[in-house]
Amino acid sequence: MAKNLNSVVFVALAAVTLLQSSVAATTYVVGDSTNWAIPPSTSTYSNWAANKTFVVGDILVFNFAQGQHDVSQVTKAGYDSCNGTGAISMQQNSPANITLQTAGELYYICSVDGHCNAGQKLAINVTGDSTGATPPSSTATPTPPSTTASPPDSSAATSLGVAGLSATFLSIALALWF
Ligand code: CU
Repeated sequence: MAKNLNSVVFVALAAVTLLQSSVAATTYVVGDSTNWAIPPSTSTYSNWAANKTFVVGDILVFNFAQGQHDVSQVTKAGYDSCNGTGAISMQQNSPANITLQTAGELYYICSVDGHCNAGQKLAINVTGDSTGATPPSSTATPTPPSTTASPPDSSAATSLGVAGLSATFLSIALALWF
């Protein structure tokens, strides 16, 4: 009895945690300890971005030595050719915090001479929503019908599904308790 109740409480907490994580944005410090500088390798920033999933609403933080670098958002052509002329935007104050507003490819370079060619350039792919998280594990409970019925792309439906699951767990907990 007590063991079952513990499982129910654990899964309910996991559901709440999932709900919160689907809402929270992630903040990324570009380059981590390298920050935004002439990197040790021309692949430093592509390696940094390679294992990350960027979602609309996430925040990029560019920390750099102010006056020595800038953060210029450019087109793919500007990125490929390291040409900051006609940049979409340029930030010269550090840290430059950039909230990812739309899905798609984003390109940033430092427009100071030679820096981009030395590898100070970043390309990322931003995906559209944050509901890609898997639904709560159902191994501890009978299969809840609401998770399989939820469309994966609707955050409202996912939230309702999680809320419904939490209510279900509460009912089970009460049923076990009394
Ligand atoms: Cu620079």
